[in-house]
Amino acid sequence: MKIISIVGARPNFMKIAPFIRAINEHNKTHNNEIEHILIHTGQHYDIRMSKLFFDELQIPYPDINLEVGSGTHAEQVGKTMIKLEQEIHKIKPDMVVVVGDVNAILAGAVTAKKELVPLAHIEAGLRSGDMTMPEEINRLVADRLSDLLFTPDEISNINLLKEGVDESKIKFVGNIMIDTFEHEKEKAFALNHKEIIAKNLMFGKNTELPGKEEFALVTMHRPSNVDTKEILEDIINFFVDEVTQELPIIWPIHPRTINRLKEFGLIDKVKNTNKIFLLHPVGYHEMIKLNSVAKVVMTDSGGLQEESTVLGTPCLTMRWNTERPVTLLKYGGTSSIVGNDIKSIRKNFEEALKTPRTPKRPTLWDGNTAKRIVEEIVDFLKKEQE
Ligand code: UD1
Repeated sequence: MKIISIVGARPNFMKIAPFIRAINEHNKTHNNEIEHILIHTGQHYDIRMSKLFFDELQIPYPDINLEVGSGTHAEQVGKTMIKLEQEIHKIKPDMVVVVGDVNAILAGAVTAKKELVPLAHIEAGLRSGDMTMPEEINRLVADRLSDLLFTPDEISNINLLKEGVDESKIKFVGNIMIDTFEHEKEKAFALNHKEIIAKNLMFGKNTELPGKEEFALVTMHRPSNVDTKEILEDIINFFVDEVTQELPIIWPIHPRTINRLKEFGLIDKVKNTNKIFLLHPVGYHEMIKLNSVAKVVMTDSGGLQEESTVLGTPCLTMRWNTERPVTLLKYGGTSSIVGNDIKSIRKNFEEALKTPRTPKRPTLWDGNTAKRIVEEIVDFLKKEQE
């Protein structure tokens, strides 16, 4: 059986690694019955946003790179669809697998279904309810079109049932990100956090590097936080004037965000604040290590919310909603929704400083998700072929 899986952007890479490993494991005992073809759309193309992850997570290099690069949403999705259609014609796969919520999955899902190829979505059923998020549109389309919907938590099962998805298509398998976490954590924990900071520093600092539990780890890239000058400026002022009074900030910065800081004339303020350490985008192991020794995480990334949950780091989710409620304190996780309202961020930040590290494990976040997915896919394809 021939399976194409599609990745496009940074958060996809840590989700595809365990899937490929599980296919290889399956093949060892099943006479190489799965032929796997990995397609990278090329949405993320910088070495630090892409190749670095293939190397450190030992993901085989993509068989095909569609090289769509940056662009508007329509450009990214349109270019991917045009090129992917040609590849699907050539390869004639038995199934296409998409993972997560980036633009690649919208393009992948629509193209596969129009070519009458069965579709599976890993990380199905997440819903923020926020239709201004490009990722929410991608999730809705992929889930509506999928034949197999692999869900990471029980709330996602309920979301899909409410939307009328046939129960037989929903497969509750757990969170594939945690497979990667379990596989890689020892390597990550063995790193030294000060060396990570020093190695990735964007601008030289003549100040001491913070110790364990002595810094706030920040990441931000959502258009809702970084694309409007007034919003980004308020956040920067809060970091500079208030957060750094309590803790230094370690901030591996996304290309979108550094571009906006430059465009809005805010970069010098950040650069000149001694207690803000801007880092280039860091690798997977480096990010896990930083998270494991941070006092608090402030982020708009879904992946970091999940990793903070299993590491126990108090997390401020800088969004007004989340498609991952299982990471919230009220559902047993470690994060709080704080939006981008400074009053709310301030209140929760002060609370987080008093909160001890308390690791949490939602159901089936056990490191065996990819194995369950491969078993379901094989089962599905065997039935199809009968
Ligand atoms: C994308 C995903 C988002 C994910 C995020 C993680 C969608 C809709 N969004 O957002 O779900 O959380 O990736 O990183 O798919 N750029 C570079 N180098 C790169 C990639 C991007 O310089 O390797 C710059 C480009 O100028 C680009 C900007 O970053 O315009 C934003 O990149 P884009 O791919 O549009 O979306 P992300 O914000 O990264």
